[in-house]
Amino acid sequence: MKLLIKNIKSLVQILPDNGYPVAGEDMKTITHLDDAWLAIEEDLITGYGSMSDWEGISDWTNLQVVDAEGKFVFPSWCDSHTHLVFAGSREGEFVDRINGLSYEDIAARGGGILNSSKRLQEASEEELTESALKRLEEITSQGTGAVEIKSGYGLSLESELKMLRVIKKLKTRSPLTIKATFLGAHAVPPTYKNKKADYIDLLIHEMMPAIRDENLAEYCDVFCENNYFTPQETVQILEAGKLHGMTPKVHAEQLSNYGGVLAGVKCGAISVDHLEYVGDAEIKALLHSATMPTVLPGAAFFLSLPHPPARRMIDAGLPLALASDFNPGSSPSGNMNLMIAIACIQYKMTPEEAIHAATINSAYAMGLSKSHGSITIGKKANVFITKAIPSLGFIPYAFGSNLIETIILNGKIQEPK
Ligand code: NIG
Ligand code: FE
Repeated sequence: MKLLIKNIKSLVQILPDNGYPVAGEDMKTITHLDDAWLAIEEDLITGYGSMSDWEGISDWTNLQVVDAEGKFVFPSWCDSHTHLVFAGSREGEFVDRINGLSYEDIAARGGGILNSSKRLQEASEEELTESALKRLEEITSQGTGAVEIKSGYGLSLESELKMLRVIKKLKTRSPLTIKATFLGAHAVPPTYKNKKADYIDLLIHEMMPAIRDENLAEYCDVFCENNYFTPQETVQILEAGKLHGMTPKVHAEQLSNYGGVLAGVKCGAISVDHLEYVGDAEIKALLHSATMPTVLPGAAFFLSLPHPPARRMIDAGLPLALASDFNPGSSPSGNMNLMIAIACIQYKMTPEEAIHAATINSAYAMGLSKSHGSITIGKKANVFITKAIPSLGFIPYAFGSNLIETIILNGKIQEPK
């Protein structure tokens, strides 16, 4: 099947095919082509150009043509951090926080991650798959084309495997590109209270071999935080993950400056995520690494955390990625348009910087920057067409509006669900 999008007002985020992320000053500008066409064959981007040199493709037959007059075309958003397999919502805790409790208070009384864990353990693989598919449909309609999904509400061998098998099933049932992350080190389950070393043993000696045997996860993640896992434990778990074929990621510096970034950089993490409490030492370490700093505006907004120092990181020359953290406790939204808007409004990122962060840089943070995250010949044809909009800055400016009109995944127009 061949698809041609013509009369595009602006074709945004054209990059060479090297898969490099975009850092520092370079994030300020975005390559685009106005009055353009884009050609797609099967599931790949096969060409683009100006409408003035349009004859180049006139020999095409059997062509589906979409007219994008007045509209922009973007590569689909890449969401490199979610926990979107879960059972049940947590609006009760949300109201408790409105009434004065903190996220930590709620966790200390057995709520939070442990609340979701209890409910996940009771849910069947089928229920989890069906509810996660609905969430995938929702984020698809919001422009996401690739998503990373973590385990971490199982916290037992059986339930962690259940979550990861659900993610494996989602890979075959959803048109989205999906990566799986093992987050057994999300919290210490109540059965291992005061026996954290034993739980870490279970993670390393039972869960990891079983995950490798079924080829269930590309990444291994740890929640490095006071009352969760120390930087030393984080390194221990991530190094073991590497031996089982999983690339490290870290939940770092979310609630305090605790050492997660330094632990992640030491292990060669592909990304360190959250970063509200990042300081100069972390910025310096990241500058000498291939680790992608990733901020999660949905979680910081929903939990009223301090803003991560996005501006300082970019001004220091770092690349930066954006992801949603979609989960029932700290970010019940997977809407990347909203993440981009918060990054611009609260973190003072420019629309161009935020778009780099939500496309090529977040693709890098999930190992997909060679195939996703830009308009590049040979990359996966995951793109969306906006409604008619005046300029690129209109996307974060008109926050809350749905500006996406047509979704194309794997070269196929997706019918609205
Ligand atoms: O990324 N920080 C740790 N984990 C999740 C929250 C999970 C939850 O509250 O259920 C996060 O914010
Ligand atoms: Fe998270």
